[in-house]
Amino acid sequence: MSVLIKNGRIITAVDDYFADVYIDKDTVTLIGQNLTMVADTVIDASGKLVIPGGIDPHTHLDMPFGGTYSADDFETGTRAAAFGGTTSIIDFAIQTKGHSTLAGLDTWHSKAEGKAAIDYAFHMIVTDMPDERLPEMSHLADEGVTSYKLFMAYPGVFYSDDATIYRAMRKAGQDGTMVCMHAENGIVIDEIIKGARAEGKTAPIWHALTRPTRMEAEGVHRAIAIAEVAEVPVYIVHLSSADALNEVRRARDRGVTAFAETCPQYLFLDQSYYEKENFEGAKYVMTPALREQWNQAELWKGLQFGDLHAVATDHCPFCFNGQKELGRDDFTKIPNGAPGIENRMALMYNGGANAGRISLNKFVELTSTNAAKTFGMFPRKGTIAVGSDADIVVFDPNHTETISVNNPRTHHMRVDYSTYEGVTVTGFPDIVLSRGKVICDNGEYKGKMGDGRFIKRARYNGILRA
Ligand code: URP
Ligand code: ZN
Ligand code: ZN
Repeated sequence: MSVLIKNGRIITAVDDYFADVYIDKDTVTLIGQNLTMVADTVIDASGKLVIPGGIDPHTHLDMPFGGTYSADDFETGTRAAAFGGTTSIIDFAIQTKGHSTLAGLDTWHSKAEGKAAIDYAFHMIVTDMPDERLPEMSHLADEGVTSYKLFMAYPGVFYSDDATIYRAMRKAGQDGTMVCMHAENGIVIDEIIKGARAEGKTAPIWHALTRPTRMEAEGVHRAIAIAEVAEVPVYIVHLSSADALNEVRRARDRGVTAFAETCPQYLFLDQSYYEKENFEGAKYVMTPALREQWNQAELWKGLQFGDLHAVATDHCPFCFNGQKELGRDDFTKIPNGAPGIENRMALMYNGGANAGRISLNKFVELTSTNAAKTFGMFPRKGTIAVGSDADIVVFDPNHTETISVNNPRTHHMRVDYSTYEGVTVTGFPDIVLSRGKVICDNGEYKGKMGDGRFIKRARYNGILRA
């Protein structure tokens, strides 16, 4: 099978030019002007942007959490991602406390294999790491799982103490892998929550009011300090506040290898969403919580000036009916997380590039290239170049949609609400190719369950130190 994409404007993290792209099977093999070769499929991309498929480095599909499971599995979640222009994800496999991380990896392989619509990789969530288990980490790296997530939050669930964090970080550094951190002081936050509950505070807004940004900043500071001593690159996930960002800035100014991602929800939504009537604030209960609106401008600065490296979704959907409702009488029982895997590319184009906040190159860098570089997938993923996987989106900069649970063009996620309900975006993916195969064509799904393959990632190679 061959595909020729003609007359498009190719945008990568560094390029911007008009050319044709020729794809032989699953790989880009030629880029040039006025290519005349015959191809099985010819796509006219006149007036369109031709961009690398999005990479979402933070998703939770089929994840047990808060007494239930996230509502999208690898079939529905990855198909929705594809419709939104994302062609690779890094999901989080989980180590069950007291059990092997390798068993956790097997479990996640069986969740994804034969189901995923797009290519996928795994980070490993470490919940305990005694000395005798440390050799498992080298096996994980050999298997292409070259990053971990540790939690300073959720005591009693995913939480790791500082000794565990240091031990795992030290070994990760020795193995040439990376550590992602959920950086919030969960111990102090739980005390604050205890006080709020004792005073009868039950509404969703208390989710935000019991998680001060200083406790996120403290977590970021501690995570980076421990990583520095353990000599491992650290990546702060779902960074939500200016306080926390300042800690990343300070560390980077000192020359520490620290990276951070933020998410569309922290760029476009704010704490006032928790005040929605009829318990609808529960739809936005996620951790970290949405912040006061003024933080958004600071996060955009972080993206613009390179202290924030990627925009991930932290897609962790729970239906309002039957799942979010579990916390109607107690905000701490609301499952934490929100959907977004399908909306990230359009939101970032509309609110970023189209709004003049970031350049087109930066849009690609933040939604694809930097994730590929940070997590050992570049240049196979994250760019359009000869030899790269043909994960490509033909993106129409003039296509307008209003995101809604009721709009069949914007909602394929298996969840009964949209985090971005009513937001109108200009700029939308028309055609999506995954390894040379058209899987989405103007709202029609052309792929099949199980098209996606596991991405065996390389170890961290310092490519994104600057
Ligand atoms: O609320 C969230 N973010 N749920 C998913 C788990 C996590 O902390 O990333
Ligand atoms: Zn987290
Ligand atoms: Zn997450």
